[in-house]
Amino acid sequence: MTLRIAVLPGDGIGPEVCAEAIAVLRALNLDLELHTALVGGCAIEALGTALPDEALRMAQDADAVLFGAVGMAKFDQDPTAPMRPEQAILGLRKTLGLFANLRPVKAYEALLDASTLKPEVVRGVDMIILRELTGGAYFGRPQGQSGEPPNRQAVDTTFYTEAEVRRLMVTAFELARGRKRRVTQADKANVMATGRLWRQVAHEVRQDYPDVEYEDMFADACAMHLLRNPRHFDIIATENLFGDILSDEAAMITGSMGMLPSASLGEARNRHGHRRGLYEPIHGAAHDIAGKGIANPLAMILSAAMMLRWSFGLHAEADRIEQAVARALDDGLRCADIQQPGTTVLSTREMGAAVIARL
Ligand code: IPM
Ligand code: MG
Repeated sequence: MTLRIAVLPGDGIGPEVCAEAIAVLRALNLDLELHTALVGGCAIEALGTALPDEALRMAQDADAVLFGAVGMAKFDQDPTAPMRPEQAILGLRKTLGLFANLRPVKAYEALLDASTLKPEVVRGVDMIILRELTGGAYFGRPQGQSGEPPNRQAVDTTFYTEAEVRRLMVTAFELARGRKRRVTQADKANVMATGRLWRQVAHEVRQDYPDVEYEDMFADACAMHLLRNPRHFDIIATENLFGDILSDEAAMITGSMGMLPSASLGEARNRHGHRRGLYEPIHGAAHDIAGKGIANPLAMILSAAMMLRWSFGLHAEADRIEQAVARALDDGLRCADIQQPGTTVLSTREMGAAVIARL
């Protein structure tokens, strides 16, 4: 079986961490067919658009997409920039219909002290933030800014259809069945009409899953409980914007954003009958450390493991990668982001090699 993968490294540390994930996949002797293209800020600079047609076509033709990161400081500081690197990932999510974003947050025993939270709070944390990825304020219209100072105004629109909410909640309950059987749905039903729709539809879907424990939670309270008692959670299902925020917060429970992978899945199947997906670390481009060879590649490597599992059904190979990562950590190997007294600090490439040596 040929694994046809679109590799879109993007900006910042994206290319560095992607290279290590590819090296790990190669070490598994898989039959890889890799296609690569520019996306994000580097594509704007070279080709005048964040998501060139070539990259989009490549992603559509592939069984799965490995995505590094996009973002460039110069665009962040220019609110009037006509194009933004982030349009690449938003366009891919929308065009490929990747509505379900799985962000697993798992505490590694070896990294308990890397968290700013107390080890006894972090120990045993194992949850998935299930973020809706193709709706809400990210895509609602109208959106934009108008007027001149001092009368400038801007609008974003949070919009959801019942069908969009339902498919995400069904995904949540199905995932929970393979885990601890608890779904927390986070919304702002006390303030937002979309929150009330989420709550109604979630309650309807829940009727089909009497074996799964369900609770509603206001998103702000959820942010608080994530820090107070993160072990409480199994699946947190939530809309796009809240999912973005809650997943960064949850990432820090484990100590570093450099550890967290993600999978974005749609309904479409690939040539192998598995789900077509896009796999990316949640950490972003991290320009401050780009090109220095010190970025942590583990989130990207773990994203490649998720790809093997979800888009190719290669569960044993995915397990091997995840176990090799855990072993490297147990052996005291760290990148700079998670370094602690008494550990050995490795470069990006050395960490990739350390994982390969433990496969
Ligand atoms: C994420 C990122 C993206 C998002 C950015 C880069 C557009 O923060 O994947 O969490 O907001 O979705
Ligand atoms: Mg984010």
